[in-house]
Amino acid sequence: MLKGTKANVLDAIGGTPIVKLNVVTKDVESEIYVKLEYMNPGGSTKDRIGAYMLDQAVKEGKLKPGGTIIEGTSGNTGVGLAMWATVHNYKCIFVMADKQSKEKVDNLRAFGAKVIVCPTAVEPEDPRSYYSVSKRLSETIPNSFYVNQYDNLHNRNTHYTWTAPEMWEQTGGEFDTFMATVGTGGTITGCGMYFKEKDPTKKIVGVDCEGSIVKEFAETGKMGKAYSYVLEGVGEDFIPENYDFDKIDSWEMVGDKESFLMTRALLKKEGIYAGGSAGAAICGAIKYAKKLDKPEKILVLLHDSGNRYASKIYNDDWMSDNNYNDPSFNVMVSEALADLGKDKQTIFTLKDINTIGDAVKMMEEKGISQIPVYGHDSVVGMVQEKNLLRPVFNGDFALTDNISLAYSNKFKVIDSGELLSTVTEALLNKEVVLVTEDGKVINIMTDIDILQYISQKGSF
Ligand SMILES: Cc1ncc(COP(=O)(O)O)c(C=O)c1O
Repeated sequence: MLKGTKANVLDAIGGTPIVKLNVVTKDVESEIYVKLEYMNPGGSTKDRIGAYMLDQAVKEGKLKPGGTIIEGTSGNTGVGLAMWATVHNYKCIFVMADKQSKEKVDNLRAFGAKVIVCPTAVEPEDPRSYYSVSKRLSETIPNSFYVNQYDNLHNRNTHYTWTAPEMWEQTGGEFDTFMATVGTGGTITGCGMYFKEKDPTKKIVGVDCEGSIVKEFAETGKMGKAYSYVLEGVGEDFIPENYDFDKIDSWEMVGDKESFLMTRALLKKEGIYAGGSAGAAICGAIKYAKKLDKPEKILVLLHDSGNRYASKIYNDDWMSDNNYNDPSFNVMVSEALADLGKDKQTIFTLKDINTIGDAVKMMEEKGISQIPVYGHDSVVGMVQEKNLLRPVFNGDFALTDNISLAYSNKFKVIDSGELLSTVTEALLNKEVVLVTEDGKVINIMTDIDILQYISQKGSF
C-alpha cells in the first residue's frame, strides 16, 4: 500500500481539527474553540458512531454477513452507517422524519440505501413515528439489525473512547468547559464521561433547543411536552438511554432563528461552513460565556457540515420566507449601501482651514445640508445647515470665521465593514453616522436609510 494513505474511507474518520473563533466571539472575554467534526469524510461526527456501533454489532454477533442495517436517523448517522455498510457490503434501510432537508434524503438514497420518510408531528409512540417504523421494520425483516442510536450505548462509548480522547490529546486538556448540542445525548455524555474521568473539575454544558424536553427534564425531572421546531439533530421529545445527566453540569437553551443567523455568521465571519446545530452550539456557548465571572477556554463540538443545509439555512429565499432574516444582525454596512444603491455617492467635504462662508456656499451649490470637515487626515467635525442659521443670523458667527466654530463633534465614524446594527444604534442615539472606507468618508447615513432598508427587505 502507498505510504501515507488509508486502507479505505472508514480509516479517514477522526483526527478533525480544533480552531479558535475570532470574530463572532468579540463580545465575550472567554476564548471559544471549535472541533470541526464536519471534516469527517461523511461530513459529520456521526461517521464515528456509525462505524463504531456497527463494528461492535459485528463483534457481539448482532450483525451477520449479508444482513440489513435499519436505523431511524436525522441523516448524519445514516451517512456514517451507509459508509460502513458500503465498505463492508451490507444493505441499509433508513427511516427519516419529513422535516429533514432534501439533501439528507437524496444523499442516503445515493448510497444505495432505502429511505422511508415519516411525519414529524406525531408522538414517538405513534405507529407512524420514525422511532416506531424503524422498530417495526427490524422486527419483520429477517437478519436485520436495528442500530438504535438513541438507546445503543455504543453511541456514547464512541465519544468516550474516541472523540473525547482525541480532543484531550489535541488540547493537552487545557480547556475549562466542553459544550455540545444534544440529541441522542451520545456526544455530551460520552465526552463528559471521559473529561470528568481525566479531570473532575472540567465543566460539561449541554445546549438544548426551544421545543425539546431534554433541558427541562435534566433540571427538574419533569417530562414536559415537546413542540415542533426547525433545527435538525438537536433536542428530543423523549429521553434516550445514552444520557447520563450526572455528567452534565449545566444547560443553555437556544431558538431556531438565533441559531440559523449564527450559522450564517460562522460562515461569513469565520469561514466555517457548518450546519444549524453548530450555530445553536455557538449561541449557547456565547450565552454561557456572558454569565461567567472570569473568562474561560471553552471547547465546542460542531456536529456537521453546511452542505446538508444548502436548500435551507444557506438559501436566502428560505431564510426570508421563514422570517429568519435579521438585516441588523448579519449585514455589513457596505452591503446595505449597495442594496440601497447608495454605495457610489460623492461626499463633499471641507478642511478645517475653510470658513463658515465656504460651508454655506458648498451647501447652496451642491444642494446638501451637512458636510464632514477634515483635519489633518481624519474627520474632526460635521457642519450642518440646521446648526448654522441661528448663530449667523444673530451675528455670533461671521461668514469669514473659521469653520471650527460651527461644526459639531456629535458624529460617529463607522467602517463600511461593520454591521448595520452599529449604524442603527448610533442613529437611535441621535448621532450623525459617517461611513468610511480606508478612512475616507463614503456616505452619511440617516434614519431614512435604515427605514428604506427595512422596507426593502421586509421586517427585521
Ligand atoms: C446535526 C446534529 N447536531 C447535533 C446532534 C446531537 O448529537 P447527539 O445525538 O450525540 O446528542 C446531532 C445528532 O443527531 C446532529 O445530527
